[in-house]
Amino acid sequence: MKLAKKKITVGITGGIAAYKAADLVSWLHQQGADVQVMMTKGAQEFISPLLLHALSGHVVIIDMFANDDKLHIPHIYGVDGADLFIIAPATANIMAKAAHGIADEVVSASILAATCPILFVPAMNFHMYENIATQENMEILQRRGYHVLEAEEGRMACGTVGKGRFPEAAVLQDAVMKILFPKQDLAGKKVLITAGPTREQIDPVRYLSNYSSGKMGYALAEAARDRGADVTLVSGPVKLLAPAGITVIPVVTAEEMYQATLACYGEMDIVIGAAAVADYRPDQTASQKIKKQGAAKDGIQLNLVANPDILQALGAAKKHQYLVGFAAETENLLENAEKKLIAKKADMIIANDVSQPGVGFEVDNNAVTLVTKDGHYVLPQMTKQALAEKIWDYIMVAAEKKNQ
Ligand code: PMT
Repeated sequence: MKLAKKKITVGITGGIAAYKAADLVSWLHQQGADVQVMMTKGAQEFISPLLLHALSGHVVIIDMFANDDKLHIPHIYGVDGADLFIIAPATANIMAKAAHGIADEVVSASILAATCPILFVPAMNFHMYENIATQENMEILQRRGYHVLEAEEGRMACGTVGKGRFPEAAVLQDAVMKILFPKQDLAGKKVLITAGPTREQIDPVRYLSNYSSGKMGYALAEAARDRGADVTLVSGPVKLLAPAGITVIPVVTAEEMYQATLACYGEMDIVIGAAAVADYRPDQTASQKIKKQGAAKDGIQLNLVANPDILQALGAAKKHQYLVGFAAETENLLENAEKKLIAKKADMIIANDVSQPGVGFEVDNNAVTLVTKDGHYVLPQMTKQALAEKIWDYIMVAAEKKNQ
């Protein structure tokens, strides 16, 4: 489900490899993408729009002059808001049209209307592929910034052997991911992130907690996933949807978060403690709801005992891991963060002043100062998603430096 929230348009043109476009559409859909298919008349000679409708879940766009409210103006609607437009297979004809701005049917017109990246996947007879006209058209397209995937060598349906085959699924899928997620600097890294609050029970209906929504931790987890990391997210109770393509371990109490985090710490390369872990819990949990009667009528006393300090334990057990903690402060931000960096044996502390309006707990924005032994770096207020990208940029630089 690595393509959740991505809108991808697939334009199928009239090559015998059109049937392979069905596998592509199916894969995109299974990865969570919202897939809109469009087809030239030639493509419909090889594969039926009905099949692509079934695989994508959307009506296939085949007629630029369709009088259909839903599709509105087909060659605009089909690529409006798309993150990627894949022409697969791409015939010599469609590439010639695209190279010369011809827009006489829905796919070629959509190529001109698209504002997103376009990936051409050429597949045709070997001699057509090697023809100077085709080669020059592909060069024109590449010069204009379009992506043109090189055809593969092999035997083709027409019996010839040579370059012109539709690529293997894995090659095409890899090309798609590299365009959608250009930064794959976390590929091969195992990342663990804690996020959200913990809840410390008083009785079956009451608990102690805090205002953490999990947004900061989830943004860091999703950014790491999109940059190729294998992400595990240990999450306190939050209202956020479990993000696709990430292993989510739900926990409630600090003790549970401690157990879950330490259990997988050894295999991790980078760990970020973004969770707002309750420092204390009631030393006793009532088995029944405490009634406001008798001695409890005017109030109750809670004796709070310390919870395990997860970041402290991670620091003490650190081997090869790059360990990042947060600091939620209301004063002396830098001083408190520097103390935490040393006390927890962390490699970086991400400090945020949670007393400032519009940043910190619950809201969509944050402002942080990254503190390491080499100094500190201020990241001004921005969305937690944008901040997550910048935090990963700095972690990758700092982690490289540490490993040198
Ligand atoms: O979740 P959001 O609504 O998006 O809000 C984001 C945030 C404000 C929660 C986040 O940016 C943040 O500051 N998280 C850390 C909150 C916190 O507990 O900070 P702290 O200074 O109390 O703890 C310091 C570090 O120790 C943190 O990495 C924390 O995860 C960790 N800790 C704290 C207590 C404890 N018992 N075990 C821990 O591991």
